[in-house]
Amino acid sequence: MKVKKRLNLLLGALLLSVGATAQQVCVSTPQTSLVLSAPVGGEFKQLYYGTKLTAADLSALDATETAQNAYPVYGLTCPTEVALAVKHGDGNMTLQMEVVGVENRTEGNASLTVVSLKDKIYPFFVDVYYKTYPDADVIETWTEIRHQEKKPVVLNQFSSAYLPIRRGNVWLSHLSGSWANEGYLTQEALTPGMQVIKNKDGVRNSHTDHAEVMFALDGQPQENTGRVIGAALCYSGNYKLRIETHDDEYHHFFAGINEENSAYTLKKDEVFRTPELALTYSDEGLSGSSRNFHRWARLHKLAHGTTPRKILLNSWEGVYFDINQTGMDQMMADIASMGGELFVMDDGWFGDKYPRKNDSSSLGDWVVDKNKLPNGIEGLLADAKKHGIKFGIWVEPEMANTTSELFEQHPDWVLKAPQRDIVLGRGGTQVVLDLANPAVQDFVFGVVDNLMTAYPEIDYIKWDANMSTLNHGSQYLTKDNQSHLYIEFHRGFEKVCQRIRAKYPDLTIQACASGGGRANYGVLPYFDEFWVSDNTDALQRIYMQWGTSYFFPAIAMASHISAAPNHQTFRTVPLKYRIDVAMSGRLGMEIQPKNMTDEEKTLCKNAIAEYKSIRSIVQLGDIYRLVSPYDKQGVASLMYVAPEKDKAVFYWWKTEHFCNQHLPRVKMAGLDPNKQYRVHELNRIDNKPLNFEGKVYSGAYLMANGLEIPYTHNVDYHKLNDYASLVILLNEE
Ligand code: GLA
Repeated sequence: MKVKKRLNLLLGALLLSVGATAQQVCVSTPQTSLVLSAPVGGEFKQLYYGTKLTAADLSALDATETAQNAYPVYGLTCPTEVALAVKHGDGNMTLQMEVVGVENRTEGNASLTVVSLKDKIYPFFVDVYYKTYPDADVIETWTEIRHQEKKPVVLNQFSSAYLPIRRGNVWLSHLSGSWANEGYLTQEALTPGMQVIKNKDGVRNSHTDHAEVMFALDGQPQENTGRVIGAALCYSGNYKLRIETHDDEYHHFFAGINEENSAYTLKKDEVFRTPELALTYSDEGLSGSSRNFHRWARLHKLAHGTTPRKILLNSWEGVYFDINQTGMDQMMADIASMGGELFVMDDGWFGDKYPRKNDSSSLGDWVVDKNKLPNGIEGLLADAKKHGIKFGIWVEPEMANTTSELFEQHPDWVLKAPQRDIVLGRGGTQVVLDLANPAVQDFVFGVVDNLMTAYPEIDYIKWDANMSTLNHGSQYLTKDNQSHLYIEFHRGFEKVCQRIRAKYPDLTIQACASGGGRANYGVLPYFDEFWVSDNTDALQRIYMQWGTSYFFPAIAMASHISAAPNHQTFRTVPLKYRIDVAMSGRLGMEIQPKNMTDEEKTLCKNAIAEYKSIRSIVQLGDIYRLVSPYDKQGVASLMYVAPEKDKAVFYWWKTEHFCNQHLPRVKMAGLDPNKQYRVHELNRIDNKPLNFEGKVYSGAYLMANGLEIPYTHNVDYHKLNDYASLVILLNEE
C-alpha cells in the first residue's frame, strides 16, 4: 500500500513517456488526476479527469480513453465550439496547433505544468498552464497567448480552458439571481444544445449569473454522494461559460472572458493571459466539491483566508445616510457592549462642496463632511478606541457622481461614448471611472491610500461598486482599441488592488457591489470577504447563502443580523431565527441597536459570545450541507465540522410552517463514526433544555439517525411564532 502510494506520488509529478512521440502528462492533486497527452509535434489532448489514478491505470489509459482535444481552436474544426478563434494579420481565420514542449516547474509550494503549443505555419503560440498545490484538490488552468507575426492578430474568442465531460445523466448546478436575490440555485440535466452562462455588466459580475458551476456526473445531484466536477472562473469582469452538447459522446465546457464587444488586438510579442479556471473533482457529492473549493480558497485564494474575522456592526440599515458624530459613537458603544469587535461606518460621511445627503452626489470627493462629523475621522477613531473596538469605513472608489468636484475637475476620467450623452446610473448622476486610464488608477489607489496614510488605525474598508458599465467608451483608449474597454477596466482594477495589497497587507477589505455583485475568485485574492446580498431577510438568506456556499467558504460570506420587519422583504422574523441564520456565515449586525429592547440586546450579546466559541469551526471548518431549502421539505440544515472532527456545529432552520406538518429527521454528516460527541444547544430561548441537551452520542449514531428536533420552541404563549431554528454544538468527549 505504502509503496503504491509513493509510486503514485512520483507519477503524479512526472511526465510519462509512452512510445516515441506520445507523451502523457499527469497533473495531480492529493485526490485527483488530470491526464493529458502532449506528444511533441502532435495534437494536445485530454484523456481523463477524476479521482486519483494508480500507476497501472495511468499506463493503461492511452488505450482505454477516447482523447478529446484539450484546447480546441477555430478554423479546421468549424462546426463545433472552440476555445480560441483569431484573425491573423494576413486575414487567415484559422489555427492549427501542435505541441512544441512540456515543462514542469515549481512556484513556491505550487507545481506548474506548462504545455506549449505553436501553430503549424504561423508564429502564433499558446501556453496552457496547470497549477496545483500539495494541500488542495483544485487545478488552476489558464493560457498565455502571444505571436510574432508582422501585423497584429485579432483575438475573437479566448477561453481560459476547455473541459470535455462524458455524456450520461449529467446535471448542472449554477447560480443566478438579481439585486437582493443573489445566489439562487438551479439544478438541471444537461440536454442537447448550448447552455450559456454569461455576464455583460462590465463592473460587477455575480448579481445575475455566477462564473462558477458544478457538474454532477451520476444523475440528479446529491449533497454527500456522487461524482461532481466543480469549475470556477477566477475573473472580476464579463465572462462566458458555454456548455455545448451536440452529436458526440461529450458535453463540451468552455469558460473564459466574454468576448462579446471585446475583440482584442494583440501586438507582436504582447502576452495575453486569460483568467484562471479553477477545477475540482470529488466523489463525495456537491458538498465534497464545495469543501475542495473552500479549502483551496482559504489556503491559496482568499485574502487572509485562515484568519478568523471580527464580529462587526455596519451602520447602513441602522442610519442609512444619516451619519453624525454622536450617532456613530452611540452605535460603537452599543456594538462594543454586545461583545462586537469592529464598527463600520457606511455611506454618507463625505463630500465638502457637495455633501453626500443621498445617492445623487459626492462620489469621488473622499473628504469628510465636517458638518456631519466635526471631529473628523480622528474623532471616530478616538471613539472606537474608547469603546475598545476597531473602526472601518465605506468607499466606492471606482465611481463618481456628475455632481462632484471630481467630475468638475476631470470630466475626461469617466466612461463615456464619443458623440453621445452620458447614460447615468444610481441617483440619476452616477458614472463609472475609466480604470483603463493610469491616472484614474492612481486616483482610485489614492482613495484607499490617502485614508490609510492619514488614519493608519483604520482596520477595515468596505469597497462598494454600485453601477454597471452603461456607456461603452473610454476617453483614454485609442479609437482603434475601444473594444479593449472591458478587459482594460478589469486589468486596471486588478493593478489598483495589487498596489493596495502591497502597501496594506493587513487591511481587511470587503467586496460589496450593490450587495453580492462581486462574489468571484477574480477579486477574492485582494478581498477578505464579500457582502452576500443587500437583502438581509433571514429566510431568503438561507436560500442565497446555501447557493453561495457551493463555491465560497463561510469565512468570506458576510451575514448580518438586521431589523424586523426586514427592510427588503418587510417580513417579520423573530430575532432568534435571524441570529441563527447570520451565525452560519461571517457574523455581523446591520441594525440600529438603540431601537432594540434590552432583552434583544441580551440575546445578541449571548449569540456573539457563543459565536466566538464556534467561530473557527464555522470559518475554517468543512461544510456538509444536509437538507436543501430548495428541496421544499419544510426545513433546511447544514453543518460545519472542524478538520480534526473533534467539534462540529449543526444548523437547522424551519423554512415553512403548516399545522401538523411532517419534517424529515435530519441525518448528520462528516463526523467521525467512532468519536463520541456531547450535544449542547447554542442561542437557547426555550424555557426548558432540549431532551438531548448534554447527552453524548456516537458520530455513527448521529450520522445514521440525527436528532429528533421539536418543530416549535418551548416559549411563553405570547412569544410563540411560526419560525423555529436550532444551532447545536457537538464537542468530542
Ligand atoms: C450598496 C451596498 C449597501 C450600502 C449602500 C450604500 O447598495 O450594497 O450595503 O453600502 O450601497 O449606499
